[in-house]
Amino acid sequence: MILYFTGTGNSRYIAKQIANLTGDKLVSINKRIKENNISEINATGRLIFVVPTYCWRIPRLVEEWIAKTRFTGTKNVYFIMNCGTSIGNAKKYIKRLCKRKNFKYMGVVSIVMPENYIAMYDAPDESVAIQIIENANLVIGKIGEIVRQGKVFTDRQSNLIDCLKSSVINTIFYSFLVKADKFTVDDKCVGCGICVKECSLNNINLKGNKPVWGKECTHCMACICKCPKEAIEYGEKSVGKIRYKCPM
Ligand SMILES: Cc1cc2nc3c(=O)[nH]c(=O)nc-3n(C[C@H](O)[C@H](O)[C@H](O)COP(=O)(O)O)c2cc1C
Repeated sequence: MILYFTGTGNSRYIAKQIANLTGDKLVSINKRIKENNISEINATGRLIFVVPTYCWRIPRLVEEWIAKTRFTGTKNVYFIMNCGTSIGNAKKYIKRLCKRKNFKYMGVVSIVMPENYIAMYDAPDESVAIQIIENANLVIGKIGEIVRQGKVFTDRQSNLIDCLKSSVINTIFYSFLVKADKFTVDDKCVGCGICVKECSLNNINLKGNKPVWGKECTHCMACICKCPKEAIEYGEKSVGKIRYKCPM
């Protein structure tokens, strides 16, 4: 079984490609989190988590959802993280989670995909994004084959900087930066409610036909990047930037 979480579609794309190679069933973690569903998951063969990287770790909301959900059947668990550049020392925390859940850690791999964090960085334009995804396809093929054969992923060494990013900086990031306060909406908003539907944390409501953000944001970038009118901004940071959605 492949369980994926996605903000802007990269993880879903990878999950689908891996499913084509291995025949595993796809399950959306977004849907489960949105429905507050932590009911038992029973899988045979293997569990494969496909997730974006958030501040050099797996997204905290995914880690919390995994912690709360009961998994039965197979113990073999793979993690496939996609990132703009690097996953830091994410493996340390994944191994800790596996221990806590009594999973057999089959390894973590990273796949470079287009950057989507427009609250901080720039996203690539569509032609550059397609080139990045075409390069990723080669890696996805190799990963799919390793999983199909039931082999483990080879662990990559982390250096001191990786360790600092995934520990201290990750803690600072969640304490001070991951907030919805800076989201605003302008006159281009037509009140279509796509942002409400796309928010896995049910953190957006329409008031007077305009979105209002609550306190549960995880900065997945779905609302801002999927708004069909580009009516959402994140303070000054997102002004004039390309809105990213996986083009494939
Ligand atoms: C909140 C947030 C934090 C991120 N942190 C990292 C990071 O630490 N390292 C990195 O290389 N990319 C980082 N990214 C980029 C995403 O991991 C990357 O674009 C990913 O492919 C997005 O996947 P998705 O489309 O499935 O949401 C971050 C993106 C977001 C939204």
